[in-house]
Amino acid sequence: MKILVTGGAGYIGSHTIIELDKAGHEVVVVDNLCNSSSKSLERVSGIIGKPIPFYEVDIRDRKGLDKVLSEHKVDACIHFAGLKAVGESCVKPYEYYENNINGTLVLIDALRSHGCKNLIFSSSATVYGNPAIIPITEDCPKGRCTNPYGQTKSMLEEIFIDIQKADPEWNVVLLRYFNPIGAHKSGLIGEDPNGIPNNLMPYITQVAVGKRAELGVFGNDYDTHDGTGVRDYIHVVDLANGHVKALEAIRRNCGLAIYNLGTGHGYSVLDVVNAFVKANGVPVPYAIKPRRPGDISTCYSDPAKAERELGWKAQYGIEDMCRDSWNWQKKNPNGYKD
Ligand code: NAD
Ligand code: UFG
Repeated sequence: MKILVTGGAGYIGSHTIIELDKAGHEVVVVDNLCNSSSKSLERVSGIIGKPIPFYEVDIRDRKGLDKVLSEHKVDACIHFAGLKAVGESCVKPYEYYENNINGTLVLIDALRSHGCKNLIFSSSATVYGNPAIIPITEDCPKGRCTNPYGQTKSMLEEIFIDIQKADPEWNVVLLRYFNPIGAHKSGLIGEDPNGIPNNLMPYITQVAVGKRAELGVFGNDYDTHDGTGVRDYIHVVDLANGHVKALEAIRRNCGLAIYNLGTGHGYSVLDVVNAFVKANGVPVPYAIKPRRPGDISTCYSDPAKAERELGWKAQYGIEDMCRDSWNWQKKNPNGYKD
């Protein structure tokens, strides 16, 4: 299939392009580079051994999208483009709603007017809020999101559900990602956050590489085995492969489908720190800090539905994730900025 990948220069998009190529798909990438560098695509191009058609276009730019879709007849879209920083979204809610929701609406209209009604959407476990059931199944009620970023994911899910209901020619797969970490085994591409990392693994790798003095562990009084927050970390390459499997569902005219992409295993912050030190033999000094506002205690998936219906199951374990995150960071201490 020929796939329009929005946000393809970003962390998850760049890894997904490699797996799409392996599975025999062609891609065309649209990204406005607001949170990424075109270097990621140059490196992906080196890994797959072919050029990647890339348009520096904002998904809110209807004319820009029309140009791309006129030049490339695409069969499906994998829609990664969006702003994703939870804290920033609380400070700039308008920008988050405008970019993520308006951008997606423009994209949907452009796609359907060019005859493409197949789409995979990057949703998030954040839609479960403080989850009512652990492990979280897809029919767990959606929760109250504590930040505008999460709200955009939840609202966009509703928008896709309504659009597909009104026009069953659409096939829409909503993928609820848990916590992606790790990097391609080459160490050529990986996560390259701007400024101080918000997320755990990029913070750990920056401490390990000497860019930051110590990790702050946000709270050790949660109701978990060691008091620190528990999450379902998933290797980004496993996540990428989930998209390849979701495309097969689209080929089978799945209509509307929702899947968790997680491993089903919960690791605490200290479990991850210890796994990182063990896998890589580098120290990660840390200090216990107060809880981070908005954080929940425990979040991990029941990934059985994706295995049953998509034939997808995560292959990599926490050691692989820690090793590959470190391989990327140590080879690229300044990310793509070197
Ligand atoms: P990322 O920031 O690395 O990638 C997103 C890409 O979208 C960036 O390259 C950015 O430049 C681009 N973009 C943003 N707004 C755009 C616009 N208006 N037009 C064109 N391009 C635009 O983030 P990621 O971690 O690769 O996440 C990809 C998707 O997955 C996002 O939608 C994110 O919300 C979602 N998601 C991520 C996580 C995570 O922990 N990384 C978890 C759940 C869901
Ligand atoms: N943590 C620390 N110190 C840090 C960073 C994080 O202790 O410097 C802790 C957090 O308190 C939490 C765990 O590490 O217990 C994971 O935190 P992350 O920020 O890495 O991930 P979150 O689970 O908070 O959120 C992430 C994405 C969201 C997404 C969600 C889906 O940032 O966008 O996963 O599960 F919605």
